[in-house]
Amino acid sequence: MKIVIIHGQSHKGSTYHIARNLAEKIGGDIQEFFLPKDFDEFCIGCTTCFVKGEEQCPHQAKLQPITEALDMADVIILASPVYVFHVTGAMKALLDHYGYRWMAHRPEEKMFKKQGVCISTAAGAGTKSTNQDMAHSLFNWGVPRIYKLGFAVAATSYDGISPKKKQAIEKKTEKIANKIKKASQKRINPNLKLRGMFAIMRMVQIHGWNPKDMDYWNEKGWTKDKRPWR
Ligand SMILES: Cc1cc2nc3c(=O)[nH]c(=O)nc-3n(C[C@H](O)[C@H](O)[C@H](O)COP(=O)(O)O)c2cc1C
Repeated sequence: MKIVIIHGQSHKGSTYHIARNLAEKIGGDIQEFFLPKDFDEFCIGCTTCFVKGEEQCPHQAKLQPITEALDMADVIILASPVYVFHVTGAMKALLDHYGYRWMAHRPEEKMFKKQGVCISTAAGAGTKSTNQDMAHSLFNWGVPRIYKLGFAVAATSYDGISPKKKQAIEKKTEKIANKIKKASQKRINPNLKLRGMFAIMRMVQIHGWNPKDMDYWNEKGWTKDKRPWR
């Protein structure tokens, strides 16, 4: 199994250890990227990716290794500490660069067969909205199975987490790792929500407005009867 972890921070605190712990329990090749160390650009809002093509993004060269790893992975783990109830700025800056991959534009076909995990830790509160920040992208990329793990660790470092809390984290990561391993043994079918969103976006493309997106959907055969998950 190929696993990619995108860490929304460059230090190795609670979020890093939990993401790493889960990946090791799943087992396989683990590739990691640390933000902003491995990608430090903000989207400049040129909309070139949407209109002309992502290969013309001014940050394409820096983004490419992450894009390739995402495409190759069976499991995508997005992990971020909670910063004022949301993902870190570095994680948001990366996700902005994949706006062109949302189903409303040009989703990558490979995404429809993957599993995704969102992990966040907070001192107290905010994991729900932070995991939702990341799940929003995974869902709109077309990832059919998404797990969310949020931990209020009552600490500002991994060493500061109480043994009791660490035990609960172990139990939860074990449970999710087992689910992921089990699901990986057969084809993952998209649920009704994902099929519904795809159907809406298909209609958008049939009556489309952005030629770049319309051509993409037509070439894939998705405006006819082909589907990315089959
Ligand atoms: C800028 C900043 C904002 C934060 N905002 C929140 C917050 O909204 N809610 C919260 O409970 N903890 C907040 N925290 C605390 C961290 O989310 C928490 O300590 C987390 O477990 C740190 O993970 P790490 O060890 O991986 O860095 C914040 C920390 C920082 C540095």
